[in-house]
Amino acid sequence: MHDVLSRAAALAKHSDSSRNYTRTYLTPAHQAAARHIAAWMREAGMSVRVDAMGSVIGRLEGPPGAKTLLMGSHFDSVRDGGKYDGVLGILLPIAVADELQRCGERPPVAFEVAAFADEEGARFQTSFLASRAMLNGAESVRPLLDRRDADGISFADAMHAAGLDPARIDEARIDASNLCAYLEVHIEQGPVLLDRGAPLGVVTSIAGGSRHLVTVRGEAGHAGTVPMPMRHDAMVAAAEMVLAVEDCAARAKLVGTVGIVQVKNGTGNVIAGEVEFTVDLRAPDDLRRRALERDVLGRFDAIASRRGVRVEAVKRHEVSAAPCAPWLQDQVAASITAAGAEPLRLPSGAGHDAMILAEVVDVGMMFVRCGAGGVSHNPAETVSGEDAALAARALLAFVRNFKPR
Ligand code: HGY
Ligand code: MN
Ligand code: MN
Repeated sequence: MHDVLSRAAALAKHSDSSRNYTRTYLTPAHQAAARHIAAWMREAGMSVRVDAMGSVIGRLEGPPGAKTLLMGSHFDSVRDGGKYDGVLGILLPIAVADELQRCGERPPVAFEVAAFADEEGARFQTSFLASRAMLNGAESVRPLLDRRDADGISFADAMHAAGLDPARIDEARIDASNLCAYLEVHIEQGPVLLDRGAPLGVVTSIAGGSRHLVTVRGEAGHAGTVPMPMRHDAMVAAAEMVLAVEDCAARAKLVGTVGIVQVKNGTGNVIAGEVEFTVDLRAPDDLRRRALERDVLGRFDAIASRRGVRVEAVKRHEVSAAPCAPWLQDQVAASITAAGAEPLRLPSGAGHDAMILAEVVDVGMMFVRCGAGGVSHNPAETVSGEDAALAARALLAFVRNFKPR
């Protein structure tokens, strides 16, 4: 089968930035990547359609009346990210389709590969946008259309510029009753497979997550004249809140991250009047995540009242923890064994489109070992050629032996 890492390298050239790998929703680089993926799908003998959100879906027909095994992942990226996050889960199934075509084989069921146009949501602070639209149509997208990116371009205008019509978003919706399973191959984005010497993993469950946008409003003032005890400094209050996120998550043995902090009209000689920051909380089960959320927000309120500032936390995203179906876990494990490796079962701390598909169909995930200490969302993200080739062989075995339930 062809070398997916060279294709990942080719795809990484489609970047919004000349300085790093960043590909955000519907930018020119994103549209070029979509065209590149569609061309590879056609070469693999797939029929290709682009849906109303810009996702690219390739299809190999199965036996008459067969349901569809959907595979896929996302082709947008975080800013200054790694070139395998998402992309590997698109290129590997295309390589399998290519091999089936080369061998003149028909898959046991219809077989689709979805290249989801937006999962990370880096441009408009969305998340799982394309897979949500595939299931819920305009209902999950319409509330976001007036969001603006860092350049002030609205979501709706970005769609028009990419030749998409916001009025037709509902056409992205699929009839999920035609699906028999969803399988996502993804880099682990962590160190477990690396530490255990396992090239491939079987995902047991995917951690749920929530994201808040927090605004702290204090009182702007002169940096030189306001005595420290009289200040209502939004920046210092926010800084204490950021440390509270770290403290609450660590004590709960979960994870909490503040990835963006912005000062409104920030000036070096002005006491910050207004600061905005993001909070990302994750847990393997929703009860523990909600308890962490309550703890964090309670700490924010205590800090705000002690410092005489106001705090507002708006939840912008929430996705429930998702189990991977045991029958699919077993078929993924059998395919890894067939490829000659020992399958290791592990949970996913990262979120994936599989969590959205899990609302309507049984899902499975296969992890590929990350090098460089397991780092991801970082340009140092890496996968070895051997592990990618092994993943391709395992995925081919999965499809050939796939038995829908
Ligand atoms: O944030 C996540 O877990 C995924 O990379 N979108
Ligand atoms: Mn990611
Ligand atoms: Mn991803």
